[in-house]
Amino acid sequence: MRKVHWIWCAAAAAVVSLSQCGGGEHDSPTPSAAPPSEASIKRAYTMKCSLCHGSDGKLMASKAPDLSTSTLDFESRVALITYGKGTMPPQKGILDAATIRGIARYIETFREDQ
Ligand code: HEC
Repeated sequence: MRKVHWIWCAAAAAVVSLSQCGGGEHDSPTPSAAPPSEASIKRAYTMKCSLCHGSDGKLMASKAPDLSTSTLDFESRVALITYGKGTMPPQKGILDAATIRGIARYIETFREDQ
C-alpha cells in the first residue's frame, strides 16, 4: 500500500499554503486534532529510531534490519512500531498514534525500489 499522495500533499502544503492537509504546523508533541507536521514526524524519527536505524534506515545498529529493503506492509509497520519487537522498543504511550502512522509512511521513502 503506497500513500504517495500524502507525502506530496504535505510537501505541497509546506510550500504553497498551510491551509491544505489540515495545516499541521504544530510542532508540539501534545495530541491534538491537527495531524502531526512532516517536521515533527521527522524529528520523532530522529529521536526515537535513527539510533538503531540511522537517518536513511540503513545503519543496522543493535541488529536492526535495513529499512530501505524492508518489505513489511503499512499496517504491519504501524503495529511493529507501536508494540515493538525483540530489542526494538515499543512506542505506544511514547508517540501518539498519528505520529506513529506518520513515521510508518515516512520510512517508506527510504525504499529504493519505489
Ligand atoms: C534499540 C534499537 C531500535 C530502535 C530505537 C528502533 N528499532 Fe526498529 N528494529 C530494531 C530491531 C532489532 C528490529 C528487528 C526486530 C525483529 O524482527 O526481531 C527492528 C525492526 C524494525 C522494522 C521492521 C523491518 C522489517 O522489515 O522487518 C521497522 C519498520 C522498524 N524497526 C522501524 C522503527 C521505527 C520507525 C523506529 C522508531 C520509532 C524504530 N524502528 C526504533 C531496532 C530498533
